[in-house]
Amino acid sequence: MSVVRFHPRDCPWREAEAAWQLRGMATDPRVRGLGAGRALGAEGLTRVIAVGGDLVWCDARAAAVGFYERIGFSTVTETYDLPPAGSHRGTLIELPIR
Ligand SMILES: CC(C)(COP(=O)(O)OP(=O)(O)OC[C@H]1O[C@@H](n2cnc3c(N)ncnc32)[C@H](O)[C@@H]1OP(=O)(O)O)[C@@H](O)C(=O)NCCC(=O)NCCS
Repeated sequence: MSVVRFHPRDCPWREAEAAWQLRGMATDPRVRGLGAGRALGAEGLTRVIAVGGDLVWCDARAAAVGFYERIGFSTVTETYDLPPAGSHRGTLIELPIR
C-alpha cells in the first residue's frame, strides 16, 4: 500500500490564494524506485488543481528532499527540526490556475 494526503492549509513560506499541504507520503518499500511515489504525487496535484488550488507545500524529510525535487517541487528553506521525525526542508510547487 502507498499513501499520501493533501489538505487545504496556508503555506508558511509563500503567499498563495489557495494553498494545500502534502502530508504522509509513503510508498510500500517493495515498490520504491518504481514510480509509485511520482504517480501518487502527480494524481494528487491534478486533483488539487481541479479544485482550484494554486500551490502545494510540504515539510520534506531531509532524506526525501531529492524525491520532491524530482517530481517538480522546489526546496525553499534551510534544514529545520520537526520532532520526533528529525530534519526537514520546506518544499513547494506553484500550480497552474485552472
Ligand atoms: C520518498 C518516497 C515516497 C519515494 O517514493 P518512490 O515510490 O520510491 O518514488 P518514485 O519511484 O516515484 O521516484 C520518483 C523519482 O524520485 C527519485 N527518488 C525517490 N526517492 C528518492 C530519494 N529519497 N532521494 C532522491 N531521489 C529519490 C527516484 O529515483 C525517481 O527519479 P527519476 O525521476 O529519475 O526516475 C519513498 O521512498 C518513501 O515512502 N520513503 C519513506 C517515507 C518518507 O520518507 N516519506 C516522505 C516523508 S516527507
